[in-house]
Amino acid sequence: MSQAGDYAAVKKDIAALLHQPEYDDGSAGPVLVRLAWHSAGTYDAETDTGGSNGAGMRYEAEGGDPANAGLQHARVFLEPVKRAHPWITYSDLWTLAGCVAIQEMGGPEIPWAPGRTDFVDDSKLPPRGRLPDAAQGADHVRHIFYRMGFNDQEIVALSGAHNLGRCHADRSGFSGAWVQNPTRFSNTYFRLLLAVDWKHKQLPSGIRQFMYIDEDLGEELMMLPTDIALRDDAKFKVWVQRYAEDRDVFFEDFTKVFAKLMELGLKRDESGSVLNTDNVKGGYIS
Ligand code: HEM
Repeated sequence: MSQAGDYAAVKKDIAALLHQPEYDDGSAGPVLVRLAWHSAGTYDAETDTGGSNGAGMRYEAEGGDPANAGLQHARVFLEPVKRAHPWITYSDLWTLAGCVAIQEMGGPEIPWAPGRTDFVDDSKLPPRGRLPDAAQGADHVRHIFYRMGFNDQEIVALSGAHNLGRCHADRSGFSGAWVQNPTRFSNTYFRLLLAVDWKHKQLPSGIRQFMYIDEDLGEELMMLPTDIALRDDAKFKVWVQRYAEDRDVFFEDFTKVFAKLMELGLKRDESGSVLNTDNVKGGYIS
């Protein structure tokens, strides 16, 4: 067992479990990034509910949300880390794992701070339906992300995470990977979004997505309707172009916006301790 507060030891153990030769594209990384995002992405700025604090996905109300299908794989991958470092909260572990995975897959280092609690505050529980529906368009995407407090530039930057991983027919109903090397963080997603003539494709289930077959590679890549919406909306497109052109700008903006996502719903004092007056009356949880 590591000493309480030894986050470097936790990070090392997360990095060591990413290589999973039997799983998907050989890495637990992408599904860990999705776990971190879905844990935080239920946040509603107006009512200050949802967010990563509380690790609500451990319970059926949130964990059983169809939008979270498949994320049990990510939670199972992390169990040995939790056992080796029982002092870390699940909410800190899940968000930290997403940040470590991004960096280990060649992405930027995301600033991350601990302090989330696993105390489940019933008054903060997010209702289902807070996460985006990939079958919809730009209005829906704005509605979901404005609710969390993000702007158009931040929405596009965050969406660059679709450089990683894939869709699974038995989880979301969609199928395939966005890029050819889905365990390497880059701006390829934006470049492909603009460079390729994406065609409609209807899966046997009736679900509609977009596809492109790379003749040279003999490989089929995919985009979700919400991805295509970023290309087709004039305001989003400006940022798609910017990130397609300049990988460094994308990395810089992604770093800021992913760090912001991981902090949704947390209030910190000057020393960085999480201040949570709702859970503990007048107190601090550090
Ligand atoms: C995967 C939808 C935004 C990270 C997926 C999947 C869907 C989806 C349908 C496939 C899930 C599966 O079948 O396993 C959306 C929609 C978004 C959005 C509609 C917004 C409009 C984001 C954001 C991030 C993210 C903001 C992170 C910053 C990922 C990752 C995967 C993924 C890493 C791959 C997971 C894996 O390989 O298991 N997303 N997503 N997504 N998403 Fe998103």
